[in-house]
Amino acid sequence: MLSKALEEAINEQINKELYSAYLYLSMSAYCEAESLPGFATWMRVQAQEEVEHAMKFFDHVNNRGGRVVLKAIEMPPPVWKSPLEMFEQVLGHERKVTGLINRLYELALTENDYATQMELQWFITEQVEEEDNAGRVVGQLKRVGDQPMGLLMLDRQLGERQGQAAEDGAD
Ligand code: FEO
Repeated sequence: MLSKALEEAINEQINKELYSAYLYLSMSAYCEAESLPGFATWMRVQAQEEVEHAMKFFDHVNNRGGRVVLKAIEMPPPVWKSPLEMFEQVLGHERKVTGLINRLYELALTENDYATQMELQWFITEQVEEEDNAGRVVGQLKRVGDQPMGLLMLDRQLGERQGQAAEDGAD
């Protein structure tokens, strides 16, 4: 059974994951408005992954005899100065999420909750990938600079990203 402290902390993390989904969906809408459909697809897939993260925590709380309590989701920004500023925010956001996951893991250690530690190990690995993906696009956008052709090529490349369901189907 989950301790009260862990139950509260994971409920808070469910809210953070759903905010992440909201943030990336807002970025997707911004990219659509900026005529960057590939960037919009990448953000939409990212938003779907964040909902999956929230649901993993949701299931974990239920499976461990806890009680999920959903809170209001903060409003994300609707606009960014450029795709580079937007992706720098993605990277900064993911680094913040990594810090939150690490703190959850520390709490699971002090509470001697081994099942929650196991669950969090998946998230620790996932965060390495999340930061790597965002950091790579930030690097590409810096190299592209003000060249419209480079931005269009990157847009085409990012548009090839597929969701997990599609990737599983392709196996
Ligand atoms: Fe759920 Fe992007 O971390």
